Amino acid sequence: MKILVTGGLGYIGSHVTVLLLESGVEVLSIDNLENSNIEVLDRIKEITGKTPVFELLDLKDKDRTQDLFKKNTDIDGVIHFAAYKAVGESILKPIEYYKNNIGGLLNLLEPLSKFNIPLIFSSSCTVYGQALKLPIDESSPVQTATSPYGSTKQIGEQIIKDCCQVNKDFKSIILRYFNPIGAHPTSKIGEDPKGIPQNLVPFLTQVVIGKRLTLEVFGKDYNTPDGTCIRDYIHVMDLAQAHIESIYYLISSNQNFSYETFNVGTGKGSSVLQVIKAFEKTTGESVPYKFSKPRTGDTTSAYADVRKIENKMGWKAKYSLEAALQSAWNWEKEIDKNS
Ligand code: WQD
Repeated sequence: MKILVTGGLGYIGSHVTVLLLESGVEVLSIDNLENSNIEVLDRIKEITGKTPVFELLDLKDKDRTQDLFKKNTDIDGVIHFAAYKAVGESILKPIEYYKNNIGGLLNLLEPLSKFNIPLIFSSSCTVYGQALKLPIDESSPVQTATSPYGSTKQIGEQIIKDCCQVNKDFKSIILRYFNPIGAHPTSKIGEDPKGIPQNLVPFLTQVVIGKRLTLEVFGKDYNTPDGTCIRDYIHVMDLAQAHIESIYYLISSNQNFSYETFNVGTGKGSSVLQVIKAFEKTTGESVPYKFSKPRTGDTTSAYADVRKIENKMGWKAKYSLEAALQSAWNWEKEIDKNS
């Protein structure tokens, strides 16, 4: 089987590529290297002993995207990660986000729907906004996005659904990630945000390693047991495995569907303070933090109802929050050692 991974050198894309190669799948990886590093290819080789075929390609380049499919007529499926993903940045740069995330998706969808190549789309729990019912299941209504980033995920899902409805031979799975954290157990690949990390865990590990002064906890008066926001933090290795299960479900099974959505999380919510305490207990390190004002756009609480993906694909998260945090810390120490 040959799978095209877009954004294949990015955080989630690289972890999925490792598992695909380890399961004997041939991988064609494309990336525009805007938010990733070419060295990740060598790391993937060190982990798996195999190197994916790599092409430097920006999906906003329509002609080059079409050429890719003219050259590679044996692609059995596509996992689409390539997109900008910083919530705060998207509010400042809406045009870039729509051009990149939607423009790139449209250029990809043309050949996919023409040649009926099945697609797995990387979406996000952000499409739910503040869900009315917790845990959040897939029938929870999509609410008005609080950022252009969230809008691009919602619009992306709708475009794909429309393509599947008009062409029953074009199949797609939408995976709505909750909060991916952690790194590969070898610490050779992990989350490597450029500039100031927007997300909690990479910012926390940079504080503990000494790159940043202190962790700001955005708000302590939310309607939660300890006043801080609750999220469903899933180990990136569990998330990557969900993509492997999804590929086989999408391609090899004779499921009579053309479009399906799945939440991918642990089903467990953890507050910011619980993450800090779990990190300290697991690593023995202390996390200097202070409370600051709530961050615009943050929801109070979001964690997944994961029964659908477990029932349909038999997938369930295996790693604990502590294991994910330990892997994030090991990765941060590895970056520091090599810097
Ligand atoms: C988690 C919690 C913050 C930083 C977003 C996107 C989602 C996905 C993951 C891409 C919140 C708090 C954070 C800090 C803090 N994006 N926090 N201090 O916002 O749940 O999800 O990133 O894949 O689609 O929506 O993740 O890690 O930014 O925040 O207190 O320095 O940590 O307020 O409660 P979020 P996050």
